[in-house]
Amino acid sequence: MKYKLGLIGFPIKRSLSPWIHQQFLKRADLEGDYSIQEIDPDDSFEEEIDRLKNSQFDGFNVTVPYKKRIIDFLDQLDEDARTIGAVNTVVHRNGKWTGYNTDWTGYITSLKHHYPSFFQKKVSNILLIGAGGAARGIYYGLVKEGFARIDIANRTQASAEVIAGLGEKNTNTSIMTLEDAESSLGGYDLIIQTTNIGMKPNVSDMIISLDKLCEHSLVSDIVYQPIETEFLHQASQRGASIHYGHTMLLYQAQYAFELWTSKKVPADNMEQQLQHKLEGR
Ligand code: ATR
Repeated sequence: MKYKLGLIGFPIKRSLSPWIHQQFLKRADLEGDYSIQEIDPDDSFEEEIDRLKNSQFDGFNVTVPYKKRIIDFLDQLDEDARTIGAVNTVVHRNGKWTGYNTDWTGYITSLKHHYPSFFQKKVSNILLIGAGGAARGIYYGLVKEGFARIDIANRTQASAEVIAGLGEKNTNTSIMTLEDAESSLGGYDLIIQTTNIGMKPNVSDMIISLDKLCEHSLVSDIVYQPIETEFLHQASQRGASIHYGHTMLLYQAQYAFELWTSKKVPADNMEQQLQHKLEGR
């Protein structure tokens, strides 16, 4: 069988997902193709999805800005994707189109891979910065892992409150301003930056100051262009441990590939290759 896979989103011409999935196909000894299917916001989304569905795709990834919009065009939704309210992977199986979310599990797996000991003490204090789609998935994953305290800091408090509603009785969440987060930074074991602040070309921007950061903390940034954001750079200079965003990209892809092909391809040894690819652009 020859897999027909792809990616929808905008703009995606420079996406590294085709490279990642070609590597997976090769490593899994499978034949297939993963193509960029850019959908311009001016085009009819419905017509484009119809075209894709009529072109014998086995599945596709969905990225910004269509992770929510795609939901109405699917036959079924996996439970995690339904709770998170976003789909990044679509599988075509037995004539049905099913939506999944592998972003959250990709993030948790990448963090576990680099900092397994962090998952041994669920009493850690976690601060999530941002309350967009990415933050929602990451919060969901951390709650599933059973962490007791996950606070959320965001410019718009109302969005943070909506995310906090996903929590369960065992997780405590306080909502705070970005200013409050700055001043209470020393109390957190893990700080996760989930906004797009610091992304190329605005590489010197930081969502909050790290002046109060403790060196025992772990700092994570989901931005991966550049690989080392100013946020991570300054965290590292202050002696904190850091976790890079491109590793999430790799593991969400690993789970998507497994959903399409039932093959789990080891991805650990691809992190450095992906880093070089990203640095080369
Ligand atoms: P994604 O789906 O990639 O997470 P998103 O849903 O657009 O993207 O969310 C973007 C996040 O970045 C939000 O938390 C947003 O804050 P608001 O909820 O207040 O909009 C945050 N963000 C974007 N630009 C920002 C800025 N200039 N200052 C502070 N926060 C910003």
